[in-house]
Amino acid sequence: MNILLLGAGGREHALAWKMAASPLADKLYCASGNAGIAREAECVALDIADHAAVIAFCKKQKIDFVVVGPEAPLCAGIVDDLEAAGIKAFGPGKKAAQLEGSKGFTKDLCKANNIPTAAYERFKSAAPAKDYVRKMGAPIVVKADGLAAGKGVVVAETLDEALAAVDMIFGGGLGSAGNEVVIEEFMRGEEASFFALCDGTTAIALASAQDHKRVFDGDKGPNTGGMGAYSPAAIMTPEMTKRTMDEIVLPTVRALAAMGAPYKGVLFAGLMITAQGPKLIEYNARFGDPETQVLMLRLMSDLVPALIAARDGQLKNFDLRWYPDAALTVVMAAKGYPGDYAKGSVIEGLDDAVALEDVEIFHAGTKAEGGKIVANGGRVLNVCGRGKTVAQAQARAYAAVDKIRWPDGFCRRDIGWQAIKREQNG
Ligand code: AMP
Ligand code: GLY
Repeated sequence: MNILLLGAGGREHALAWKMAASPLADKLYCASGNAGIAREAECVALDIADHAAVIAFCKKQKIDFVVVGPEAPLCAGIVDDLEAAGIKAFGPGKKAAQLEGSKGFTKDLCKANNIPTAAYERFKSAAPAKDYVRKMGAPIVVKADGLAAGKGVVVAETLDEALAAVDMIFGGGLGSAGNEVVIEEFMRGEEASFFALCDGTTAIALASAQDHKRVFDGDKGPNTGGMGAYSPAAIMTPEMTKRTMDEIVLPTVRALAAMGAPYKGVLFAGLMITAQGPKLIEYNARFGDPETQVLMLRLMSDLVPALIAARDGQLKNFDLRWYPDAALTVVMAAKGYPGDYAKGSVIEGLDDAVALEDVEIFHAGTKAEGGKIVANGGRVLNVCGRGKTVAQAQARAYAAVDKIRWPDGFCRRDIGWQAIKREQNG
């Protein structure tokens, strides 16, 4: 079959790498792709915000299945538009994608279905929001309702910080994403990224992962899209996985089905594992980045039939197999990220790095220029290692990082530290 993948980052490179290995994939295209994806798929310059152009491409190239990577096209309803045009697509429709597109929508859904999450209120203007902040006290969490590319959440340690966040968001600091604000209780615990494949009525758990959102070692500095990840996450024991499915994921899938908006696709639950058990921090309507990079390295089964079964509502008797090994990815970013950074610097040594045992490199933001690979984004490379333990996977990933010659890049040197500490303590 002919498959079109939408997206251009490290997540999409990992998905392309896995799908290209499927005997079902005769021809794989990616819009718009990057220099790494170009090794797995034919990259096409399509504006994925232009749904009519994507549909026209699918008709012309006889695309049988479209896999949507990022959230923006999902929230814009690309799956609805593709399906209406008779093209099968993987991912939730616009209404179900509100799980990511509107934090207020998700919080109300949780409340109505007794899904464990932080206590909250929704606000449409600053004055009542500030009154609520003063009433609840700090620490407290202030969130823009809409999609804000990871910038919409302020975990405020003090009242002043929380009040300033309310002013920033209602002052237009995040554009229309901030027309509404959710203010919620600060939860304590350990975070985990949990993924489930959903087919509208049922769901199956994928492997767990943990990412490192802060830019500097020791989890310091501003939040980013993610500076590294590993899988499995030790905290997601079989018991915790079962509770997450029973208390969070499956009630969500049932609630959306009852609303006439069946959720098909990957449901990515950001979890806080608290003293009371798993609680939902937020939902994303797509695969995580960089979590997907480590999940794909651990997935033994063919990905393509799983995605098709999710689209077709056939997951009930489906099973996926995973390698028991650990996988870890280190994000190499352009100096300055998550703030301002330059594009265009040359990256060398990639062939030496990938020649190492149990190493894989996914490109997040690169392009090919005059026979060289150059940086073309904030997060640029995902250098991955596999091993029997997280410590071994980490050692392999950093050995590969050390082969890469890119003076304008940087990475954290401590990805996986919590898991390695656990491994050392037995
Ligand atoms: P989000 O974009 O919603 O995943 O939030 C970004 C980060 O903010 C999360 O990964 C958490 O570290 C933190 N966070 C969000 N909501 C809460 C909460 N209610 N309590 C504690 N930390 C939170
Ligand atoms: N790694 C977090 C995300 O994909 O949003």
